[in-house]
Amino acid sequence: MKEIFPGVYRRDKKIFTKNLVPGKKVYNEKLVREGGKEYRSWNPYRSKIAGAILKGLKNFLIKPESRILYLGVANGTTASHFSDIAKKGIIFGVETSFKPMKKFVKLCEERKNMIPILSDANHPEKYDAIVEEIDLIYQDISQRNQVEIFIKNMDKFDVQHGILMVKARSIDVSSPPKKIFEKVKKEIERYYEINETIKLSPYAKDHIAIFVEKS
Ligand SMILES: C[S@@+](CC[C@H](N)C(=O)[O-])C[C@H]1O[C@@H](n2cnc3c(N)ncnc32)[C@H](O)[C@@H]1O
Repeated sequence: MKEIFPGVYRRDKKIFTKNLVPGKKVYNEKLVREGGKEYRSWNPYRSKIAGAILKGLKNFLIKPESRILYLGVANGTTASHFSDIAKKGIIFGVETSFKPMKKFVKLCEERKNMIPILSDANHPEKYDAIVEEIDLIYQDISQRNQVEIFIKNMDKFDVQHGILMVKARSIDVSSPPKKIFEKVKKEIERYYEINETIKLSPYAKDHIAIFVEKS
């Protein structure tokens, strides 16, 4: 295993995180033992940021002490890998749908660095009493107004860094994805500096990952 970012490992063409809860799988991923440590395989088809890493991401942003606000956490597939990495940090996971949130709550019982929030990310004022000192927002919400939601939360929590997963078809089914991505980038650049953008195909069709920083 070669550590490619703090807490992220690569062997051959696969990436891994060190399992925070040895022996436990989260989404039926492979567990691999090496040098007395257990690693969880990170599936790029199930987790867009894993796809971005495999497609050559330069600056990963998530560190062992990161305090992350995760919008659209679903049942915690990607968040579980963040929880492996941000061992000294915390992940606040916001999800609006009850069914995935139920699974995520269970996962939070095993992983003490994650906190579940059943709420609508359109209304950050509803969870700002729970969320504290965030240094990164990670958003993966396939909604028409996904950019508006992202900017609203970045603003509300005065966050330095953000990662936005954009799904073109959720914004507009009739326009070509390239045109939508250009529009989204222009909108974001009004407020933030874009450090990297990565097309996520073949792992996620018509998606891009945008990495931003407050200038
Ligand atoms: C693509 S899935 C997220 C997958 C997850 N990020 C992962 O990689 O493990 C998008 C999630 O966003 C949630 N969502 C949609 N609109 C939302 C909103 N306004 N606030 C919070 N969550 C929302 C959906 O219920 C869904 O679970």
